[in-house]
Amino acid sequence: MVDAGTVRLVEEPVPEPGPAGALVRVRYLSIDPTIRTWMNDAPGYLPAIGIGDVVRGGGIGEVVATTSDRYKVGDLVFGMTGWQDYAVADESAGAMQIIPAGIDPLVALSVFGVTGMTAYFGLIDVGGVTEGDTVVVSGAAGATGSVVGQLARIKGAARVVGIAGTDEKCGWLVDDLGFDAAVNYRTQNVGSRLRELCPRGIDLYFDNVGGEILDTCLGQLALKGRVVLCGAISTYNDTGPAKGPGNYRNLIVIRGRMEGFLILDYLDRFPEAQMAMAGWVAEGRIKHSEHVVDGLAQAPEALNLLFTGGNTGKLIVRVDGERGRARP
Ligand SMILES: NC(=O)c1ccc[n+]([C@@H]2O[C@H](COP(=O)([O-])OP(=O)(O)OC[C@H]3O[C@@H](n4cnc5c(N)ncnc54)[C@H](OP(=O)(O)O)[C@@H]3O)[C@@H](O)[C@H]2O)c1
Repeated sequence: MVDAGTVRLVEEPVPEPGPAGALVRVRYLSIDPTIRTWMNDAPGYLPAIGIGDVVRGGGIGEVVATTSDRYKVGDLVFGMTGWQDYAVADESAGAMQIIPAGIDPLVALSVFGVTGMTAYFGLIDVGGVTEGDTVVVSGAAGATGSVVGQLARIKGAARVVGIAGTDEKCGWLVDDLGFDAAVNYRTQNVGSRLRELCPRGIDLYFDNVGGEILDTCLGQLALKGRVVLCGAISTYNDTGPAKGPGNYRNLIVIRGRMEGFLILDYLDRFPEAQMAMAGWVAEGRIKHSEHVVDGLAQAPEALNLLFTGGNTGKLIVRVDGERGRARP
């Protein structure tokens, strides 16, 4: 877990954007499990965060000064703001994307943001969800998982089962989001509950957590079953060698497929998914929840909430908010 020895709060002069750039006052930080993986000095899909560097992370800010035609003062922009009060958008730091007027920044970070897009492309493109599928998703009450389950329903899945860590979360999935059932992995035997809930096996397992839950689901796949490897949060704090899933051999028997993906490969297709998502949100078919933690200084503790299961829905830090918490 991140602690006081991992991250320091320091004061430095406000940065100055280069020519044709903008100064951005950071308002909201997207708190993502992958930030924890960037803190490991290990090969990954991005370089590790260097000692003394600002913690890398996506966020939304407001343009407060600009020398570029691309931005206007007052624009809300999304980009890799990092965990800081001010960021720059320019050639050296990379461009930021302007958020269309009228979009709530919290929603821009959740269903219209990276986790909503991850749910969309992971389930539809990678998982190939089809009508009649029995779909199981872990991390189901989180930002990605909660959207996966609702999308599966929209795409005609016959049964959608979520796996989450508290009875409250399980209740939210079934009562508010329309999942058919939910399993509390902390208090119930996941294997036997899934056998009861999915008697014909699992056609599509969307894996957000890895570890034992992945192994259990691998052992219960139906013929031609698919596993979408989205994340493995149960292992991100591990220090020893990774343990492999013993039940992988079942993929041979059921002629199954297990495939990983990175949402970075889908950036140019975000607009199509955001349009579709906007329609479903407007119709009330996709519901969302944002869990907001106030104050930049709380960002390290907020990151830890992802690992203790303290969040429901998308976890966001309101950078200049009062210390404390607010659940909309
Ligand atoms: N492939 C990609 O491009 C991509 C993009 C975005 C996210 N991801 C991955 O997707 C997953 C979800 O990310 P997110 O941002 O949507 O986070 P999230 O689901 O909102 O938050 C993480 C959730 O994981 C659950 N969890 C934590 N430790 C666990 C454990 N040991 N066993 C089971 N569940 C555990 C917690 O809920 P409980 O109370 O249920 O334990 C927690 O709320 C992560 O693995 C992330 O790395 C991948």
